[in-house]
Amino acid sequence: MQNRIRIVEVGPRDGLQNEKQIVSVEAKIELVERLAAAGNTYVEAGAFVSPKWVPQMAASDEVMAKIKRLPGVSYPVLTPNMKGYEAARAAGADTVAVFGAASETFSQKNINCSIDESLDRFRPVIEAAKADGIAVRGYVSCVLGCPYEGKIPLASVVRVSKALFAMGCYEISLGDTIGVGTHDETRAMIRAVAGEVPVAALAGHYHDTYGQALANIWASIGEGVAVFDSSVSGLGGCPYAKGASGNVASEDVIYSLHGSGIETGVDLEAMIEISRWISGVLGRRPGSKATLARGDG
Ligand code: HMG
Ligand code: MG
Repeated sequence: MQNRIRIVEVGPRDGLQNEKQIVSVEAKIELVERLAAAGNTYVEAGAFVSPKWVPQMAASDEVMAKIKRLPGVSYPVLTPNMKGYEAARAAGADTVAVFGAASETFSQKNINCSIDESLDRFRPVIEAAKADGIAVRGYVSCVLGCPYEGKIPLASVVRVSKALFAMGCYEISLGDTIGVGTHDETRAMIRAVAGEVPVAALAGHYHDTYGQALANIWASIGEGVAVFDSSVSGLGGCPYAKGASGNVASEDVIYSLHGSGIETGVDLEAMIEISRWISGVLGRRPGSKATLARGDG
């Protein structure tokens, strides 16, 4: 079994993009900086998307301009097209992420184009990034279910993952966008994708809507996956399920991994402090069991 797992901390992007309150630029900067200081080597810092579609990410250029960057830490940002890519490059991004979906309807609703059109949009982004020495991560949404189409054929998940990897994405993050997958479904999904993309290039991105994310992480670890996306304090809700939690909480993932002898390099106590602080900023209870277990005051 893997003795080290890499965490990709997505709270400042996937978390905050789904919170109702708009968080100040100062608080976003503090969040990114504290997460890096806690030992996270990948802190997703924002998204260069249309502010009409996702107002919460509107100040990503300011965040990128003002954060103090630590050596050895990457600060990826989402870029759906060349316009987003050029803005990300101007903001000094070292890593960008293109994001597609395994569901046609989700692709239309999220980025206003079909799956094939999205791949055509990503190609020039990936080529430009390669020429600029910027790494590109690829996301695939709805790998275990879609809010509009329900179950998604594994063949579609495999096709999009394979296409993004072939285009040059160094890692494919497999997103259970609405957090509906279970342990065995996750195992089957990872096995199917790993038949076409090296497992070392796969990451699990599990939302915790039904409380299954940690089980799905362990199912993926069993298949050899060693990279997982998580969000401090389980930031973010799910726009498709009322009252649901967001990404799996980083503190819970770290607690589970460290307690099982797997290193992450991330300081659990520091993450619990950040979870308490950002929950205060948002005026909500911490969204991780590990933080609540220590008292949320
Ligand atoms: P569109 O309307 O089809 O784009 O949106 P367009 O090219 O026709 O342009 C329309 C307007 O948007 C123009 O402005 C463009 O300049 C502007 P106007 O002339 O009307 O003033 N525009 C942009 N502005 C800023 N940045 C850009 C950009 N591109 C065009 N990059 C678009 C297409 C992709 C832009 C839009 O649909 C969009 O921004 N969608 C956002 C989707 C998003 O951020 N979703 C959340 C992230 S994905 C996710 O959370 C899933 C993930 O976590 C994994 C998982 O859990 O599954 C990754
Ligand atoms: Mg997500």
